[in-house]
Parts: sequence; structure tokens; C-alpha cells
Amino acid sequence: MLYRKDDADKMHLSIVIPTYNEKVNVGKITDKIRSVLAAEDYSYEILFMDDSSDDTPTVLKQLTRQYHEICYIHRNNERGLASAVVEGFNQSKGDYIIVMDADLQHPPELIPLIMKRLTRADIVIPSRFIEGGSDGGLNWLRKLISWTARSIGRLSIKRLRPISDCTSGYFGLKRQVLTAADLNPIGWKILMEVLVKGNYESVHEIPYSFVARDAGQSKMDLREQLNYIKHIARLVVNSPEDCRFFSFCLIGALGVLVNIACFAMLINLFQLNGLIGSLGASLLAMLHNFIWNDKVTWKRCQQPIGWRRLIKLPMFMTICGFGIALTALFAQIFIWQYWNIYLGQLTGIIIATCWTYTANSRWTWPNSVKDNAINHNRLIVTQEYAGKLS
Ligand code: GDD
Ligand code: MN
Repeated sequence: MLYRKDDADKMHLSIVIPTYNEKVNVGKITDKIRSVLAAEDYSYEILFMDDSSDDTPTVLKQLTRQYHEICYIHRNNERGLASAVVEGFNQSKGDYIIVMDADLQHPPELIPLIMKRLTRADIVIPSRFIEGGSDGGLNWLRKLISWTARSIGRLSIKRLRPISDCTSGYFGLKRQVLTAADLNPIGWKILMEVLVKGNYESVHEIPYSFVARDAGQSKMDLREQLNYIKHIARLVVNSPEDCRFFSFCLIGALGVLVNIACFAMLINLFQLNGLIGSLGASLLAMLHNFIWNDKVTWKRCQQPIGWRRLIKLPMFMTICGFGIALTALFAQIFIWQYWNIYLGQLTGIIIATCWTYTANSRWTWPNSVKDNAINHNRLIVTQEYAGKLS
């Protein structure tokens, strides 16, 4: 049930705020936003999406009576920050939407700037991690967990990679970003869901300081951290491009086992000498990887036609050959520098994997680059510091 006094059809900005037991904060943030936006000439609403089990709904009811721009929805026996925000997207009316927390860790003073930047970018993200920003509001353990979580997200999902604060709970967007986006998040990270499924071409980041909570408690816990991993896994499964990369890595790892098994077989069973056995094993492993990649990783891509079909295997082998040379080069560099050789080999393997994946999707199975519903390559990400735009 939506409690709303203002029934004007047209609304410029909707500020969606998820709340769980924030009775001391909802009044404060309302006052703050009202005073920040008093000087702006656009219409706005503040929509609280509440799942509280305390008296927050009573306080919200009073606020809706007092101010026409306040509205709220209370969900009984339901939890979930991200799902609350998705419902907020559906119920809100603004052409622009800003999502922020209720506890004043996200400074409302930034709202006018976010709105201004939304005229040039589809999504605007206040970031803790660009020059001029800080995440002082977290203790060292939360900082470490937060960094690990962000890194896992950015490694797993290509679209998150260029964004410095993809787990932010504070962001603004044009409503059209949500057109046709089937949002179905688990847990907290609604921004990640929007970044992966939304329809947009530009993202702009502005620095801000994430200050300590001044009242109430954080609701982040172990369950939410596990939900985060589940959420990432679901986003990867739904993203053909990221799925392909994982499949490629998995087949590569399997290829190592095949390589060792073939090596053992060639030198023991067929009595070949070590060098020939090693070369033979690598060739067989490459063939194994090629077949799986062709049948699984790039299965759904339009297959190359004519002569391109014939050069698939030689192309794959040439690219992998370069990969092997690249790995050897790194091992050698580490030897020259007296660094740990295993680390050198590992660095080489990581770089070679990225190279072989990129090169194979470009040349061996060339149509895979074009088959994304959203064109990831066109994304423009800009940042600013102290009003200077990049
Ligand atoms: N509706 C609803 N349902 N709201 C919730 C729920 C829920 O189950 N759980 C938490 N909230 C609300 C809180 O009341 C608060 O307004 C906001 O979501 C964020 O919760 P906090 O507990 O204050 O989170 P945090 O400070 O540890 O982390 C926040 O800021 C980070 C930096 O932007 C979150 O937004 C993180 O996702 C974000 O990375
Ligand atoms: Mn908080």
C-alpha cells in the first residue's frame, strides 16, 4: 500500500530511500533533503521503502501528513534492500531517480550536482574511490570486506570493471535506463543489477566522503555477504559475455589436467622421450580445449562461414602458441629479476589467459563480439574532482 498525498502526475525527481528500523533518521534526512532542494526549481518526491519492525512506519505516517512531497510503502514481513528499491522504481513517478540510504552516510548536499550531471550522463554515481572521495565511515575490517567484494564483482562482471564504486548504495539515473530491464536482485547491491541489466551508454562518477553513521546500526551481516556472492553468480549466468569467459577459464584448467594425463601416457605407454612427449601432450591438450571451446564456450555464436571455418583450428593454435610464449617471457623476466619463478609463471598464465580469450573471440570466433544485446564496448565512463570534468 502506497501512502502518498501528492497526486500530481508529472514529477521531475524521485528520491528512493530503503529503510529498516531507521525511526531516528527518517525525520532528519527529510529535513536535510528539503532544505537542500528548497533552492531548486524542480518538483520532487521522497519515497521511503520500508521493511521496519520498529516504529519507523508511524514516524513515516506523520511525515506524510506534514509534507506533501513525502510518501512511503511499508512491506510487512519482507526484507531485502535491493528488492525494496526495485519496488520503489516501480512505484515512483519521477523522470529522474536517486537512490540513497536513510542514515545520512550519503550526503544529501550532492543531490543538486547529481541532477546537473544527469543531463550529460545516464547514470551518476557518487564514488568513495576516486580522487577527492573517501570511505572513512567504515572500520578497517569493513573496508577490507568491501574491497574484496568490489574486486570479486569487477573481476567477474565486465560491465562493472570501469566503475570505481559499483557497490555504492548512492546513485542517480534517468528513468529510461530501466526500460526493459528485468531487475531481479538478491540482497543489497541494486546498483550492480542496474549496471548489468540497464539500458545506458554513459556513467559519470563524482567523489564524496562516506561518513560514519550518526545514529542507529548498520544492517550489513554475513548473510548479506553470502547473498552478494549469489547475486554475482546469478548476474554472470545471465550475461553471455561473462559466461563465455568463465567457460574458457574452466576449459583451460581442464586442459592442464588433460595435458598432464597425456604426457604421462606418451612417455610411459608409448615410450616417447620427454621433449617429444611434452610437445605431443601440449598439442593434444590444445585440441581438447579447441573442441570444448567450439562446442561450449562459443556454441551460441554465429559460426564463421567458408574459409574462415577452415582456419579456426590453426588460428586457435597460433593464438595459444603466442600465449605459451607470453607465459615463458614472464617466467624469464622473473628469473632475470631474481623474483619468485612460480609467481612469474602465474603472472604469465593470467596475462596469457586474457590474451588468448580476447584474441580468440576477435579472430577465431569473430561474431561473438557482436552478439551482445547491450553494446558493452560503447560505454563511456567519466569522473570529476572538485568540479573538474574528465
Ligand atoms: N527496505 C529495506 N529492507 N531497507 C533496508 C534493509 C531491508 O531489508 N536493510 C537495510 N536497509 C536500509 C537501511 O535502513 C539503510 O537506510 C540502508 O538500507 C543501508 O543500510 P546500512 O545498514 O546503513 O548499510 P551500510 O551503511 O553498512 O552500507 C551502505 O552504504 C554502502 C556505501 O554506499 C549500503 O548502501 C551499501 O550497499 C553501500 O555499499
Ligand atoms: Mn549506512
